Amino acid sequence: MSTAPGPKGQPLLGNLLEFGKDPLSFFLRLNRDYGGVARFKLTSKIAHLITDPELCKYVMLDNYKNYRKGKPYARARFAFGEGLITSDGEYWRRHRKLAQPAFSKDHYIDFAKIMSDAVHAMIPKWDRSIGKPVNIATELRNLALQIATRSLFTTDIENDAERLQHAFNEINAWFSSGSKTGFLIPPTAPTPSNLRMRKVMKEIDALIYRIIATRRRAKEPPKDLLGLLMAARDEDDGSSLSDGELRDESMTILFAAHETTGTTITWVLSMLSKYPEVERRMHSEVTRVLGKRDPSFTDTFQLAYSKQIMEETMRLCPAGPIIPREVVNDDRIGGHEIPAGSVVFLSPYVMHRDVRFWENPEAFDPDRFTPENVAKRHKYSYMPFVLGPRQCIGNHFAMTEMLVAVPMILQRYQFQLVPGMQIGAKHLRFNEGMWMTLSRRAEPSPLTVRADAGVALES
Ligand code: HEM
Repeated sequence: MSTAPGPKGQPLLGNLLEFGKDPLSFFLRLNRDYGGVARFKLTSKIAHLITDPELCKYVMLDNYKNYRKGKPYARARFAFGEGLITSDGEYWRRHRKLAQPAFSKDHYIDFAKIMSDAVHAMIPKWDRSIGKPVNIATELRNLALQIATRSLFTTDIENDAERLQHAFNEINAWFSSGSKTGFLIPPTAPTPSNLRMRKVMKEIDALIYRIIATRRRAKEPPKDLLGLLMAARDEDDGSSLSDGELRDESMTILFAAHETTGTTITWVLSMLSKYPEVERRMHSEVTRVLGKRDPSFTDTFQLAYSKQIMEETMRLCPAGPIIPREVVNDDRIGGHEIPAGSVVFLSPYVMHRDVRFWENPEAFDPDRFTPENVAKRHKYSYMPFVLGPRQCIGNHFAMTEMLVAVPMILQRYQFQLVPGMQIGAKHLRFNEGMWMTLSRRAEPSPLTVRADAGVALES
């Protein structure tokens, strides 16, 4: 068995500085220079980046039990406890089985209605902002948080929605600030940022436990995500989730659902503003399928080209660009030794730009996702939601949300990036915001409508 190739690194630090400075560029270089399995070191910890799709399948599916969340998820565990994102083994398996029915398609008609209602609630504010620069990154993250909150708690949160939004702004800032130091400073260390985070968590905990207690007393609790999680029973022993477990899963869903989807919709709108021909094709589809109606869940299946736009956006800007795992037992990947206790990284960001699978990878081209083109590629070369048993449980929820929110936005507005605003997928976070100017979409002339309906006008 051989040691995988990789860069040398410095004494004591290994490759920590390069990794800490810009992990995505570092990983792109590793993939370019060393191929499918590259070895490096974070201080004394051995790490590997795996970018060969067949080997990614091995980590995510064939031998997934050997690759747990472990230490790389310590910060997330501090915030969300032992929820679906952070837990492992039997504990995770039981929770996944209990939570899965809540995400079955039966509930998506209701979820889609919650989504379109949330967009309607946002419209008066956007109407008032017409012609002015708007930070759409913040707006869309708040929209996604509203949707997650209402899907989980229906109206129980009515009076606390703003408090929750404020708390999640703090939590998001805590995660961004720790993304570089997280490997070095444990979340339990009494730094000012960690202490502030602890205070925010206490507030949210009180809120969530209060909602759970009210539900336990209710004769007919609502059938929202929390209601479905509370009603779920283990088929082996009939047990259900405890208050503590419900708290952890609620926190997990709130966070996992809003940051990712809000960020992705922000990228979608940025891409639409940058590629007017793509925007025109999407608007034409939206007009043909919906006219001026709100999209229902059933409508989302008719929005095939719009879906391709979402998929292409998640190729270039995956909300989970780096996926770490801790190795349980010694293993071998691609003939190379992978020691127990080391870290393995998968990276959708790197895989989605690999010239082995994507021609001209930096170009934005939704037609890569026509069914014929998808069928030509290795399934594990595209994984914005990860694949295998740990696949995102909310992937259909997220797709539905995007296919409800973006068409509704397009029915009303057009966007222009504020001059000087760069769209670069380099860091995939919007610490300085994504500023765009909104204009009201002009009513289509009868000529345009006929053209969209297929009555030949364009030469
Ligand atoms: C564009 C939107 C989204 C993206 C790109 C995304 C991406 C991901 C990724 C990459 C993972 C795997 C993380 C890992 O294994 O380390 C994941 C897991 C998860 N996601 Fe999402 N997600 C999105 C939206 C959502 C939504 C809307 C929800 C809930 C309503 C959700 C809930 C979860 C949960 C609970 C897990 C853990 C699943 C498990 O391990 O059993 N996500 N997501």
